[in-house]
Amino acid sequence: MDKRGLGSIAMSQKNRQFVLDQIPKGKLGTEHFRLTEAPMPSPGEGEVLLRVRYVSLDAANRAWMLGPTYRAALKAGDVMAGGALAEVVESRSSGFKAGDLVFGDTGWREYAALPATAVMKVMTREPLSHAVSVYGVAGLTAYFGLLECGRPKAGETVVVSAAAGSVGSIVGQIARIKGCRVVGIAGGAEKCALVTSQLGFDAAVDYKRFVGKPMEFYQALQAACGGGIDVYFDNVGGETLDACLFGMKEHGRIAACGAVSRYDGAPPYGVQGTPMIISKRITVRGFIVTDFFGQAAQALSDLEGWVRSGQLKVREDIVDGFENLPAALVGLLAGDNIGKRMVKVT
Ligand SMILES: NC(=O)c1ccc[n+]([C@@H]2O[C@H](COP(=O)([O-])OP(=O)(O)OC[C@H]3O[C@@H](n4cnc5c(N)ncnc54)[C@H](OP(=O)(O)O)[C@@H]3O)[C@@H](O)[C@H]2O)c1
Repeated sequence: MDKRGLGSIAMSQKNRQFVLDQIPKGKLGTEHFRLTEAPMPSPGEGEVLLRVRYVSLDAANRAWMLGPTYRAALKAGDVMAGGALAEVVESRSSGFKAGDLVFGDTGWREYAALPATAVMKVMTREPLSHAVSVYGVAGLTAYFGLLECGRPKAGETVVVSAAAGSVGSIVGQIARIKGCRVVGIAGGAEKCALVTSQLGFDAAVDYKRFVGKPMEFYQALQAACGGGIDVYFDNVGGETLDACLFGMKEHGRIAACGAVSRYDGAPPYGVQGTPMIISKRITVRGFIVTDFFGQAAQALSDLEGWVRSGQLKVREDIVDGFENLPAALVGLLAGDNIGKRMVKVT
């Protein structure tokens, strides 16, 4: 249990929260958010009162502003949505007690009262932040997206985009563990050097060197792959998806995980390579990580084993301070992060 306990949360205390003030028309900026104070929430029957510890920053946060996805669209005036690792400080549900750690969509606020059915208990492991990265949505997305949707076999070539990001950095390492040759696509020389020298990828391509040069990008990717792509784990969509479609081998598989290149005010882009899906008999499988939550126990056991054995290195990018949430999300979309970005609230 948190040493400060429930008694220290005076009901007169205010609850800081960020409201999404406007829906951005172009790129997201910090000016689209407004810091406000609300009264402390009080849990109703069947609810838990949560103290937010770490807020997960996700590329998808921006996609939720574009329209309905697998969740309702965010509207101007909403408290900014977002998943967080939080501690139960008061429970009015028999399934939870004060001190339990949970993950749930608390939104960007210091305290939240949520129905117990809307949060998941998480195992306490040190460091706590791993519950947001490798043992959280990022790790499970990488695990299930690669192994269930990409289905790589030892000896095959796996390509992953946003390779130095939270999902991508784990995807590449799992593919290596499974005996694949791994090529990362990332923005900038520093990220490319990191994935090869520290995370064990076989090669990396800096897509930013090839903006407006699709043929050169395709050629650089083919050279790095040495004969085509068996599995492409797509985090970005757009031009990168196109280069990979043209570079796929026959009967290749694409795990369609995300399209971050399209989330933040980019102009529409028409993918050119779709005929390749037919001529090369490519399987494209989209997924949402929650599809696989029923199998999470096995995934977490595998991920923990790989972390403990040193085969899987966890990269985290922890920004300190609740007030830095907007800038941290804007920075993530600009590619400032290496590994899993989150904001430590308390
Ligand atoms: N399907 C699911 O259930 C699920 C679950 C979680 C996440 N996701 C998806 O996974 C992807 C990664 O998300 P994340 O939250 O883990 O973020 P992340 O990869 O940690 O960070 C986002 C990264 O995207 C890259 N990026 C930004 N703009 C780009 C552009 N125009 N073209 C190419 N790359 C760009 C940046 O790296 P560079 O410096 O390399 O550009 C940035 O670091 C997203 O597409 C997200 O939607 C899907």
